[in-house]
Order: sequence, then structure tokens, then C-alpha cells
Amino acid sequence: MHAPSPEMAQAAAILASGGLVAFPTETVYGLGADAENPAAVARIYAAKGRPQDHPVIMHLAPDADLAYWASEIPPEAQQLAAAFWPGPLTLILKRAANIPDAVSGGQDTVGLRCPSHPVAIALLQAFKGGQGGIAAPSANKFGHVSPTTAEHVRDEFGADGTVALVLDGGQSQVGIESTIVDLSRLDTHGPVLLRPGHISAEAIAAVIDRLPAAPDAQAPRASGTLASHYAPHTPVAMQDTATVRATLAALALAGKKVALIHYSDLDGAAAALRLPAAPDGFAHALYAALRAMDARQADLILVEAPPQDGQWLGVNDRLRRAAHGSVGLVHGLLNANAV
Ligand code: TXA
Ligand code: MG
Repeated sequence: MHAPSPEMAQAAAILASGGLVAFPTETVYGLGADAENPAAVARIYAAKGRPQDHPVIMHLAPDADLAYWASEIPPEAQQLAAAFWPGPLTLILKRAANIPDAVSGGQDTVGLRCPSHPVAIALLQAFKGGQGGIAAPSANKFGHVSPTTAEHVRDEFGADGTVALVLDGGQSQVGIESTIVDLSRLDTHGPVLLRPGHISAEAIAAVIDRLPAAPDAQAPRASGTLASHYAPHTPVAMQDTATVRATLAALALAGKKVALIHYSDLDGAAAALRLPAAPDGFAHALYAALRAMDARQADLILVEAPPQDGQWLGVNDRLRRAAHGSVGLVHGLLNANAV
């Protein structure tokens, strides 16, 4: 392995001294800290405004020793890591005794992932000679839209010095957060899909011969699974294509400003962004689109609901949470004018 670049050496030094470094991954940008330094991890929670009992994902270099981080590594974990790492998959495993409580939000599990973005890999290799772990949630304020560019990260945290360095690796390819599979309770619950993503349940089943189940009541908590999450400041509503047409017409008559995110042929919105009509392309562009439409100062961000099929599961999951609480929103906007 060759010597790290000066920027990567600086980033690794910041992490080693307990500071925060934001870095690109193929899913979204992460806000990183030394996973084994509880004070550094506490800084992530403070910067994000994230509740203390929400665990963060630990990012590892491609050749990391899983046994250092997890106390039990079932064959399914080895198979999934071999098939999908480096890549957008997080595995929940039983936590090794030497890993601080603080990074796992007090849970007896750890979330591990080896990202594929070359800048993330270079950072992981520069930090503690590739033997460290970087704890990193998405680099956004708690509950807000995840960042997919370095500029998004700077928009979230400003120049107040909380984040010592933002590494720029261009726009994240995947665009939505990693798929999370819980393998910590295989004997009682089997594999459980905690968060859908680019790597589908079917792709996982093709490797381990078992389709991961939907989360049960005892499944480990995950903040990304809260009803309301990934949300812009402007209210978001999601409707099927025909309803979007009717809503656009009605809200235009009522003098309301609508910012539209769509993939079909639709017009009549004050601002609109048309995304690719396929799940990977839509996911890639989604968070940047939500941020751009949020900046238009509209009364409503209206999203054309994607198809319900399995390939769209990750996108639909994020949109449902971004639009949480939007029931009655369109009626409210119309009735406000009906006095
Ligand atoms: O794609 C991703 O996973 C991105 C990039 C930066 O890698 N990270 C990310 O982190 O989405 P965050 O913190 O925004 O979401 C991590 C999710 C949370 O819902 C968290 O609760 C869950 O992973 N998680 C982490 N460790 C866990 C654990 N031990 N048990 C259950 N859930 C866990
Ligand atoms: Mg997040």
C-alpha cells in the first residue's frame, strides 16, 4: 500500500485526535469519528442533534478483521461480506466486548459496513493503518435529508468548525443509505431487513438462501426506521400520477406554489425536477432533488409516487418517511383559501 495523500493523512490525523471528518461514500456522505473514542463519537451526536440511544454504523477497510468488532460471525455474515463488500450493505452482528458501548447506543450489537467509494477506502486505509473503525452516520442534522454531495454537508454544518474537514468525492453514486440486515438474532428470528436499500432482499436471499424478514417488534432500533425521517423543511406529499395531475390543477387555482418531483410527463408546477423513471437513477438523484425543491420556498413538495414493486422498496421507504404526516396536507392548503 502506498503512502496516503497529504489530505488523507490530515483527515486521518484529525480522526486520531478525536475530531470529526465528513467523507463521501457510495450511498451518502458520512460524518466520521474514531469508533473507539467515546468522546469523539459523542461529538457526532452533538453535531447531529441525534438521540444518544441511536447506534451509528462502523465503517471498516476492505481487509478489516471482523472478529475484532463482532463477537459472533455467522457464515451468513461471511457470505454477505464476500458478495457485497465493499458496497452498500450494513450487517448487524453481536458486539465484541472491547467495543465501547457508546458507539452502539448501548445495544449489544454493532452495525458494520465496508464502503466502496475510493475516497472512503483511502481514508479507512490511512486511519490507524487500516485497522481502525470510523463511526459515521449520514452527515446531516437528525431527521433531515441525507447529503449526497460535499456541498450538502457544508449546508448542514456550516463553517462553525464542528466538522474539521469535508472530503469531496463528487456525488454519491447510489444516493440512498445502505441496506441494513440484522444477523444478530439468526437462531430466533433469522435474517431481518432493518432498512431497504440498493441491495435488495432478493439479492441477499440469492447469497444466503433465505429471504430476510420484515422487522419484528423486538428488532434492533434504527433511527432511519422512525416514521418521520429524511425530511426537508417544506412539507412533502406523495401521490399517484393521476392524483398529482388533479392536485397540481387545484393548487394552481388556489394560488399555491408547488415544487414537483416526478418521473412521468407532468407539468403545471411552479418548480419541477424530473428524475429517471428507474429505481437506481431515481435513488441517485432523490436527495439532491429534495434539497433543491426545499430551496424553492414552495407551499408543498409534491412527489409522484413510484411503482410499488420490490426494486423500488428503498426509494419508497425514504419517500414515505419524508412525507410522513402529510395526510390532509393538500386539503389543508386548498381549504386555507376556501374561506
Ligand atoms: O449508507 C449508510 O449506511 C450511511 C453511510 C454514511 O455509510 N450511513 C448511515 O448512517 O445511514 P445513519 O446513522 O444515518 O443510519 C444508520 C442506521 C441507523 O438507523 C442506526 O440506528 C442503524 O443504522 N444501526 C447502526 N448500528 C446499529 C445496531 N447496532 N443495531 C441496529 N441498528 C443499527
Ligand atoms: Mg441518517
